[in-house]
Amino acid sequence: MQDDDKVKEKGSGLSRRTFLKASGISLSVPLVIGHRVIKVPGAEVRVYGPGKVPLKLSINGKSYNADVEPRVTLLEALRNELDLTGAKRVCDRATCGACTMIVDGKPVYSCSVLAIETQGKSITTVEGLMQGDTLHPVQQAFIDNDAQQCGFCTPGFVVASKAFLDKNANPTPEQVRKGLGGNLCRCGTYMGVRAAVAQAAPKGGKRNG
Ligand code: FES
Ligand code: FES
Repeated sequence: MQDDDKVKEKGSGLSRRTFLKASGISLSVPLVIGHRVIKVPGAEVRVYGPGKVPLKLSINGKSYNADVEPRVTLLEALRNELDLTGAKRVCDRATCGACTMIVDGKPVYSCSVLAIETQGKSITTVEGLMQGDTLHPVQQAFIDNDAQQCGFCTPGFVVASKAFLDKNANPTPEQVRKGLGGNLCRCGTYMGVRAAVAQAAPKGGKRNG
C-alpha cells in the first residue's frame, strides 16, 4: 500500500493527510455511541451516529434493547438484532408489503422506517398476534381459506389484514381489495386472502361473490 503522505493530488502539491489536517477533519471518523449535541444558530440539535446507538423498542407488549446504527431500518433491527424474523424482506423498497408491521395502530412498511424513529411507539409484528396457543382469527382464517402458497407475502398480509380489520369491522369486498392494495402476492392468492379477511371480520364482513 502506498504511504498516504506520499500520495499527492496531481498538480496541487498537497497530500491528502496534510489537507485533512489543515481542514480540521480527522482521518478516522470515530464511531459514536449515543448522540452528540451540536449548536446551530438559535438551537441545539441532537446528532446520532454514525456509530451504533442504544435503542429501546416496545414490540408485542415487551421491551427490547438493541444497539444499532441510526441508518438501520425497523425490519433489519428486528430480523438481525432481535431474532424476530416473521416480517419478510422481499423488495426492501416499500413496494410489496411483506415486511408490514403495525406501529401505533398503523400498518407500515418496516423496510422503509428507521428503527430509531420507532422508539416510544407500540410495534406489533406477526409474532405478537397469537394469544397463547390460539391463533389470531386472521391467522386462522388464512389457514381455513388456503390463503397462502410460497408464504413469503403471508406474514405481511396477515398483519395488514389485522390492521385493516381493526379499522373496518364490516368491510365490503371492494373495501378489502382497496384496503390491502399495498400488499402484493406473486403467487396470486388474492381470492383466498380476501375470503380470509371476510371470515375474520369482527362483524362478519361480506364474502367475495
Ligand atoms: S420488503 Fe418492505 S415493502 Fe417489500
Ligand atoms: S403466497 Fe407466494 S408470494 Fe404470496
